[in-house]
Amino acid sequence: MDLHLKDKSVIVLASSKGLGKAISTEFAKEGAKVLISSRSEAELEKAKAEIKEVSGNPNVEYQVCDVTNKTQIEQLVQKAVELHGTVDVLINNAGGPPAGTFDDFSDEDWQQAFELNLLSFTRTIREVLPSMKEQKSGKILNIASSSIKQTLDNLILSNTFRAGIVGLSKSLSQELAPDNILINTVGPGRIATDRVASLDQKRADQAGISAEEVREKAEQNIPIGRYGEPEEFAKAVVFLASGANTYLTGQSLVIDGGLVKAL
Ligand SMILES: NC(=O)c1ccc[n+]([C@@H]2O[C@H](COP(=O)([O-])OP(=O)(O)OC[C@H]3O[C@@H](n4cnc5c(N)ncnc54)[C@H](OP(=O)(O)O)[C@@H]3O)[C@@H](O)[C@H]2O)c1
Repeated sequence: MDLHLKDKSVIVLASSKGLGKAISTEFAKEGAKVLISSRSEAELEKAKAEIKEVSGNPNVEYQVCDVTNKTQIEQLVQKAVELHGTVDVLINNAGGPPAGTFDDFSDEDWQQAFELNLLSFTRTIREVLPSMKEQKSGKILNIASSSIKQTLDNLILSNTFRAGIVGLSKSLSQELAPDNILINTVGPGRIATDRVASLDQKRADQAGISAEEVREKAEQNIPIGRYGEPEEFAKAVVFLASGANTYLTGQSLVIDGGLVKAL
């Protein structure tokens, strides 16, 4: 299948590591022009070199962007337009909110999670829409969590703001379809990244067992029997955000090896 991604301008947020980096790598393999971003220039330098080497694609650039900083988001999109003339694909992503239950969080924590995991997505979308509307085409993909279908224990901030992304995405799919801009949300189940390793370590410390035991237990609940690899997640994202997807919009999908049982 031709994904029609050659020379397309792609921005991936929070992409120095984990899911964002894996997604950027798959886009680069398809010949897209990829702009990666995160808060750390040193990590971005490393990620850029690695993505170039793995993909054989020289068109990988980076820009430092903390997704909670409005000005840096504006500068990121400006850079994509300067480098590549437009933005064809936006992959919204961010660091995860802290784990915890209702009693653990103050107003300030709620505000921070809102800015990190929901407001940032609205800001990036606002910035890319002029390019996408002008060319009457665009793809927006939001990375959320399996909590878009089924809440996760001890992750109340994720459960709340990921649901907000679904509402935003569904509403925008209606508003943007006349301009041929398709928007979808994808929720990872348990994909083996640093974030999942650190959540496992926290659970291990609380339960007085090893992180390996936590992982083994978690894998028993996944019908496919293992954590997903970032590349497996990335391939599905790249299809949804590619030119091969011309009719699927406003949807929320989980990529989880069958973990979530909700319909
Ligand atoms: N992996 C999973 O199975 C899973 C499951 C459910 C939900 N998720 C969600 O998916 C998202 C990505 O997860 P991951 O597993 O890829 O995490 P990860 O391996 O920890 O990577 C997180 C990435 O986000 C960047 N980042 C963090 N805070 C940022 C900020 N304020 N502005 C810009 N970039 C920022 C980090 O780079 P810098 O530190 O350089 O900024 C890094 O590149 C998170 O929201 C996570 O909660 C993941």
